[in-house]
Amino acid sequence: MDPRTALGRAAAAVDVTKVYGKGDAAVTALGGVSVGFAPGEFSAIMGPSGSGKSTLLHCLAGLDTVTSGQVFIGEVELTALKEKQLTRLRRDKLGFIFQSYNLVPTLNALENITLPLAIAGRKPDPGWLDLLVDAVGLRDRLAHRPSELSGGQQQRVAAARAMLGRPAIIFADEPTGNLDSRAGAELLAYIRRAVTELGQTVVMVTHDATAAAHADRVVFLADGHIVDELLEPTADAILERIKVLGG
Ligand SMILES: Nc1ncnc2c1ncn2[C@@H]1O[C@H](COP(=O)(O)OP(=O)(O)OP(=O)(O)O)[C@@H](O)[C@H]1O
Ligand SMILES: [Mg+2]
Repeated sequence: MDPRTALGRAAAAVDVTKVYGKGDAAVTALGGVSVGFAPGEFSAIMGPSGSGKSTLLHCLAGLDTVTSGQVFIGEVELTALKEKQLTRLRRDKLGFIFQSYNLVPTLNALENITLPLAIAGRKPDPGWLDLLVDAVGLRDRLAHRPSELSGGQQQRVAAARAMLGRPAIIFADEPTGNLDSRAGAELLAYIRRAVTELGQTVVMVTHDATAAAHADRVVFLADGHIVDELLEPTADAILERIKVLGG
């Protein structure tokens, strides 16, 4: 893919390869991936276990280095940044939601939501914070500590925390992986609202066709390569595609 294809994208990978280990032990996790993610779009990345989904997400988010190729966040080439600039870009432009919620047990929900901004020395915009708290349905749970919240509520705290700094893009790796289907569906509905109503850009790795059906687009990985894509996916269409791809 021509690096110019990255223009106008919230995030893009251009011919990205990632090899773990050396010599006989070398594993090619990404074998030359080019893909762009449009601003304001909710994208899902699917594929069999070991196909490189997390690796791609981590490379896009600057949490892991690429072996070759380029990653862009907006117009900025992430792969050309020095460690300090990369840390700042991650802090100011990117949000993360992982399978484990990574909340601080001694802080209540509100304090957990505002912690990253506080660390960055930024004050949350009160109107935006208010909107987010309602957007993720946590209004009556703000004074509770993580141990007093359900898994779904904890993950929604993590989602609000990811959105508070108005990141250009949110990366989520199996965000519903630890949730039952109802809590998972709720979280996805909140993420969907953030995209549709607040214009948030989201890239989400998931195994789950029902989860991926909330996205605007699904990108399919196999053996470190992008093998297919679906627009406006339904769960049935995704399952059908997975069957054809032999996932
Ligand atoms: N730190 C690492 N060192 C060595 N190999 C790794 C490392 N991380 C991932 N791999 C390998 O790279 C390949 C892709 O891994 P990755 O975690 O991206 O897969 P995935 O699609 O996210 O799988 P899953 O659905 O199981 O989470 C796998 O073969 C994996 O074993
Ligand atoms: Mg993974």
